[in-house]
Amino acid sequence: MTIDTANPLRAGLRQERAAEPCTVVIFGLTGDLAQRKLVPALYNLHHDRLLPGAFAVVGTARGEVDDAELRASLRAGADKHSRRSPSDELWQELDRRLSYCGTAGPDGYAALARHLDKIDETEGTGGNRLFYLATPPSAFAPIVKSLGEAGLNRPGKNGSFARLVVEKPVGIDLESAQKLNSVLNSVFEEKDVYRIDHYLGKETVQNLLVFRFGNAIFEPLWNQKYIDHVQITVSESIGVEGRGAYFEHAGITRDIVQNHLLQLMCLIAMEPPASLDADAIRDEKVKVLQALRGIPIDRIDEETVRAQYAAGVVNGKPVPGYREEESVSPESRTETYMAMRAYVDNWRWAGVPFYLRAGKRLPKRVTEVALQFSAVPHRLFGHGTRGLANTLALRIQPDEGITLKFESKVPGPNPRIRPVTMEFRYGTSFGEQPPEAYERLLLDAVLGDSTLFIRRDEVEESWAYIDQLYRGWGQDGGVTALPEYTAGTWGPAEGEVLLARDSRIWRRL
Ligand code: BG6
Repeated sequence: MTIDTANPLRAGLRQERAAEPCTVVIFGLTGDLAQRKLVPALYNLHHDRLLPGAFAVVGTARGEVDDAELRASLRAGADKHSRRSPSDELWQELDRRLSYCGTAGPDGYAALARHLDKIDETEGTGGNRLFYLATPPSAFAPIVKSLGEAGLNRPGKNGSFARLVVEKPVGIDLESAQKLNSVLNSVFEEKDVYRIDHYLGKETVQNLLVFRFGNAIFEPLWNQKYIDHVQITVSESIGVEGRGAYFEHAGITRDIVQNHLLQLMCLIAMEPPASLDADAIRDEKVKVLQALRGIPIDRIDEETVRAQYAAGVVNGKPVPGYREEESVSPESRTETYMAMRAYVDNWRWAGVPFYLRAGKRLPKRVTEVALQFSAVPHRLFGHGTRGLANTLALRIQPDEGITLKFESKVPGPNPRIRPVTMEFRYGTSFGEQPPEAYERLLLDAVLGDSTLFIRRDEVEESWAYIDQLYRGWGQDGGVTALPEYTAGTWGPAEGEVLLARDSRIWRRL
């Protein structure tokens, strides 16, 4: 396939905007996220000259921080995690704009305010601030309240901005999400709150919109009349990676399904927005969440499957079972695999099952959305695929690309047919490394474009849906052990049964 590389959409989905001068204040600069993602993203944005001319980064933390040590560890993080190896010259330019301000003690936020004012004077950042919460979630509300008390949420007289970027998770259920959102909105206006779901920053996820609404050929088929079912898979080969304490309370449902997987589903199922305006797109996504069919408690075991990984072998290496992981209870009932059959009850999707699955310690890392087209109305060719040859698979990661499968005649005198695949791969078509999700998201927050961020009603609708699953699962009073699957396999037998009951099978990925 050839690609129109002059297409302006390659630069992003929206119109280009000028970046205003600004200071990014990172709460939790010494933490893992900042080291692995945010600082490398800042470096790459600086490398590409996408940051505003007048720009500064302020790190905060409650404890004492040695300036030289901090700079050395950020550089080490960038060396290790940046997609480009940092050059000394560019790193020094970034390092020069970096400062640290402790926020401990009663005067902590007033000191931060003074520090920021000083930067405005020396760097010309114009009073514009982007506050980035890269801390554990328990710190979100206290930080936001303190920002409010110090008046840091109020843009200055000259029309400067104060924006808030919030990492996931926003709450652990509907009630806690509403509570946190109320705190956020009591200090910052909703238009200034940027809730991150890093999946939305992935190039391939943004491309779902371009693919659907930038082409005339697929959209007419994108409905219950032509689509038999949809499969969405978020599979990881990694386990809980030292995050056992967090994962025990999250499980795969809160960790992946509530956010990344439902977001993918929204982009696949939404109606075309009237424009690329942030709210026009988010309005349509919310409608999908609102149309998700609830699962009655007495059907929860038929419609959903939860399981935990037992010891096994992944990528040739023996790995422990979930209950043997550090900080995980030996009696844990937390799910590391979840699969379900969901329905979007609206005109477009009536009766089309969406099979969703997410799991840790599966055989490989792969995120994919596949649309299985309906069988031909009248089967002329009796062999092979039961007339269900046509699958459109959108590979989000890795090997990013899109494939379309259709029947073809096998050359030769015999009337044999076989499915073949037409393929587009980002790597070969564009020949360049896509930016990291965090580069896009940080830049958009600096630019004031909230399209790729989660609005309050979106996050609350998705929790409402997830909460009713937990109500169903809680019905046994927490006594039934979860099914197990061997690490390195595609999940428990129950996951296969979920589709087999509908005479379908999961795609082999
Ligand atoms: C995070 C989850 O949000 O996403 C992790 O907390 C998961 O458990 C990660 O591993 C997956 O992200 P990616 O970009 O590697 O697919």
